[in-house]
Amino acid sequence: MAKRLFTGLQPSGTLHIGNYFGAIKPTVELFKENQGLLMVADYHALTSLKDPAELKRYTLENVKDYLAAGINLENAIIFKQSDVPEHTELAWIFDCLVTVPFLMQGHAYKDKVAKGLEPNAGLFTYPMLMAADILLYDTDVVPVGQDQKQHVEYAREAANKFNIAYGQTFKEPQEQIQKEVAVVPGTDGQKMSKSYKNTIPLFGTKDEITSAVMSVVTDSAPGRYDNIYKIHRLFKNALELGPIYDAHANSYKILKEMLIEDIDAFIAPMREKRENITDEDVKKVLKEGAEKARAIASEKMKVVREKVGVSL
Ligand code: ADP
Ligand code: TRP
Repeated sequence: MAKRLFTGLQPSGTLHIGNYFGAIKPTVELFKENQGLLMVADYHALTSLKDPAELKRYTLENVKDYLAAGINLENAIIFKQSDVPEHTELAWIFDCLVTVPFLMQGHAYKDKVAKGLEPNAGLFTYPMLMAADILLYDTDVVPVGQDQKQHVEYAREAANKFNIAYGQTFKEPQEQIQKEVAVVPGTDGQKMSKSYKNTIPLFGTKDEITSAVMSVVTDSAPGRYDNIYKIHRLFKNALELGPIYDAHANSYKILKEMLIEDIDAFIAPMREKRENITDEDVKKVLKEGAEKARAIASEKMKVVREKVGVSL
């Protein structure tokens, strides 16, 4: 039988080329061959994003990004978490099954505590909402980045705890880690991340791409393996780049100009497609997605309510 995929993204920022190669492209590829669900985790984003206008904007924008990148709507049900209330409902039931010390091992929670930040209770129980996302749909495979591996383990644990307490109900999902994707470096050579302000925007204008590329740090380690080359390799293979980088070994300006052209040529068709997708188109996709997702989730919750004893 075909395996059902489930994956999610937090609408918490403008996407950059690191997100594209690390998350969007592999997801688009997977949905070419497999069926499943792609969820915008707006309630998860609420653990860190407090600006309602931004949450709305990123939700619409990020769905546009995936549509422009060519996600196959025949195979992928795209919906947002808050449109299917069964997610928060099931998360509560899991919260009542797992212990505080178990959740205290969560990476996201531990990181905040280690940084001296005050973690909200939503961040603490974040893994149980994510477990509900995945388990409501009898998911087989969860394609995620390495950083989300623990969350899928938590989902298996939640399934297991529930099955032991109330009888076999949930399938235990497997993560699929996108190993072949290397970490895309940012303009300063660290991992490209919106938190480091070192990004090249995915759907930026040519001017925005130019100013990001021009700011790539070049004086640290000149030569083939410097920051420009590593970014350039995402767009051209080593065979093509070799002679170019040899010929211009000390002229970073020329290499940067070539990189700008290559990024722009790569992005332009997607950017054009994206410009033709309206907010209304996105809302329609999400509405249809929510109806399909809810049909599956509400059936599952009927069984769950019966099992825990809240259905009379
Ligand atoms: P950011 O670091 O900008 O906040 P997120 O943590 O929201 O990005 O990541 C969203 C997705 O994009 C994840 O699947 C993550 O693995 C992927 N991703 C983010 N940055 C990179 C990068 N520099 N290289 C490869 N993949 C990345
Ligand atoms: N926590 C994931 C992230 O930050 C997003 C997410 C929410 C998710 N629910 C999910 C991913 C379910 C996979 C499956 O990237």
